[in-house]
Amino acid sequence: MTEQKATNITWHHHRITTEERERLSGHKGAVVWFTGLSGSGKSTIANLVDELLFLRGCRSYVLDGDNIRHGLNKNLGFSKEDRAENIRRISEVAKLFAQAGVIAITCFISPYRADRDAARALLPPGRFIEVYVECPLEICEQRDPKGLYKKARAGEIKGFTGIDDPYEPPLNPELVLNSASTPAEELARRVVQYLDQQGLLSI
Ligand code: ADX
Repeated sequence: MTEQKATNITWHHHRITTEERERLSGHKGAVVWFTGLSGSGKSTIANLVDELLFLRGCRSYVLDGDNIRHGLNKNLGFSKEDRAENIRRISEVAKLFAQAGVIAITCFISPYRADRDAARALLPPGRFIEVYVECPLEICEQRDPKGLYKKARAGEIKGFTGIDDPYEPPLNPELVLNSASTPAEELARRVVQYLDQQGLLSI
């Protein structure tokens, strides 16, 4: 639980409700939470989902670990505590997007179940869609798009997820996507289809 440091603060209510903003968007606000190993394909699939939604006239936005760590979360590293804070902050940001009537698509390794569950708890039921991008470590390591697994194996990076740091797979994700056996385009279509079936892409 993060300590509430500020005192003398008052909650201000918005004149425009989330429902009104959703009506303007023409769809619901939601958080599509991608989780999986580095190199599993989270960002690739997430950006394809974003594009499909955009082409349908939906308002969506991708929040990506590597990008967010350049700005909002630039003071965080990869210890368990820092990863928890990384996920806590981004889940609060994603919640704000959803309240603004936008579909936030997040791609963070988010290796700890407790951190992802805390993110889910911030959203109303049905508005947090956990998408597990399942991909064997060996394949992620073969892909090694950023050359980081090689560095981790060489001992140049300590505490790399999947090598010498844990990854806890989701127990009950809304979707499991196997990126080793299915092209990213097909997986992205499946995500959009799921959102549609759940009634999230209409009012
Ligand atoms: S998380 O664990 O806190 O969710 P996040 O998704 O923000 O991680 O960042 C992961 C990205 O940071 C990886 O894709 C990789 O490019 C880079 N990275 C650098 N060091 C590490 C590390 N020790 N473990 C995992 N990823 C790392």
